[in-house]
Amino acid sequence: MAQVFVSAHPLVQHKLALLRDERTDPKKFRELVREISTLLVYEATADLQTESVLVQTPLGRATGRRLLEKVGLIPILRAGLVMVEGAWQMLPGAEVWHIGLSRDERTLQPVEYYSRLPVSPTVDVCLVLDPMLATGGSAVAAVDILKRWGARRIKFVGIIAAWPGVNRFTQAHPDVPVYLAAIDDQLNEAGYIVPGLGDAGDRMFGTG
Ligand code: PRP
Ligand code: URA
Repeated sequence: MAQVFVSAHPLVQHKLALLRDERTDPKKFRELVREISTLLVYEATADLQTESVLVQTPLGRATGRRLLEKVGLIPILRAGLVMVEGAWQMLPGAEVWHIGLSRDERTLQPVEYYSRLPVSPTVDVCLVLDPMLATGGSAVAAVDILKRWGARRIKFVGIIAAWPGVNRFTQAHPDVPVYLAAIDDQLNEAGYIVPGLGDAGDRMFGTG
């Protein structure tokens, strides 16, 4: 059964409202995407395995925990790129492997244009990053690519999804938990999430 986690955290919800606002300029938009991503990655990594370590403080010995698992960040180009910067705040040592997918405006199908994964997986957990999960086609395709690569544990971290995309994704990949800031009800005829925030890539990179 797929897990879909929608953060109700006041900081996430406050920043999400600013992100949706059409008056938010690209600089502020990128800052908000980074901040929301940091907060969602904090949630998405709550089950990472750790081991006990001993550390010497200036005053004595303390027991602590150390992360055991290697995490890979997999941004879907373009809009996933800025999420990497937020995720790195929590996971500065994470490897980053890019997947380039572009949605065909007519068919709404994802078209793969970039993927240079190493021969076999180099990480224990993959966090797929893309702020928008609309029809779900891009997210499903990215996880298909990672599974063909041999990735075992995959999580999807987005910001806004629409119910049709969430349903499609969880049916295709019931083993992949989803972390979001919001799920909106609808898609319009052009495949945009309504109310959503518009075109995330364009708002991020100032190309709209
Ligand atoms: C957007 C978004 C997702 C995809 C979501 O990317 O960042 O990757 O659309 O739509 P879907 O769930 O219907 O597949 P887009 O293809 O516009 O590319 P961009 O990030 O380069 O702007
Ligand atoms: N891609 C976006 O950037 N926004 C949407 O609403 C849907 C797909």
